[in-house]
Amino acid sequence: MRLRPYAEQDRRLTAELEGDAEVMAHLGGPAPGGRAESVHERRVAGREREWYRTILADPDDEPAGVVAVFRSAWEGREIHELGIMLLAGRARRHGLAAGAVRLAVEEVRASGLVREVHAFIGAENRAAGVVARRTGFVNHGPCDVDYEGVPIRCDHWILEL
Ligand SMILES: CC(C)(COP(=O)(O)OP(=O)(O)OC[C@H]1O[C@@H](n2cnc3c(N)ncnc32)[C@H](O)[C@@H]1OP(=O)(O)O)[C@@H](O)C(=O)NCCC(=O)NCCS
Repeated sequence: MRLRPYAEQDRRLTAELEGDAEVMAHLGGPAPGGRAESVHERRVAGREREWYRTILADPDDEPAGVVAVFRSAWEGREIHELGIMLLAGRARRHGLAAGAVRLAVEEVRASGLVREVHAFIGAENRAAGVVARRTGFVNHGPCDVDYEGVPIRCDHWILEL
């Protein structure tokens, strides 16, 4: 598995991820029409102090999902937040996510620009919680997050770099 910078050619990957009920089950549900396009544009544009990466799976480098560390806001201050999505189906349940998170975090650490990475993980999202713990994030307890207008009960995970 490897990562490459998210690019124009990933428009369809984002549409597939954002439109899938299983992928979005803990993220407020499938994106309404048009939102995937704006998510794609934001990813392509977000090169400065943000890390949007396409996950390429073995053995044939097929795009399997997206991992990102992006700028966000929490309690009135700017933070860096981790997000990851894998396509439903064969990309899942092989430990791919933890490998992708480790690679993304290494890039962020190497930049020297970020001291901590935050993740807001749905309280019912067992797979994402396991991945966060395995990659060194610490659970700082429950919080309520607004995901594209949908309120979600989350745990607030933080990784100190
Ligand atoms: C979260 C996600 C990235 C995990 O990817 P993954 O590579 O399939 O995860 P892993 O294979 O490392 O599995 C991690 C653990 O979760 C478990 N798991 C995986 N999918 C699960 C599911 N649907 N329900 C319950 N447990 C699940 C695995 O068994 C594993 O636990 P174990 O090692 O104790 O057996 C992936 O499920 C996903 O893309 N989900 C949709 C988007 C999302 O919710 N992202 C997180 C936003 S913060």
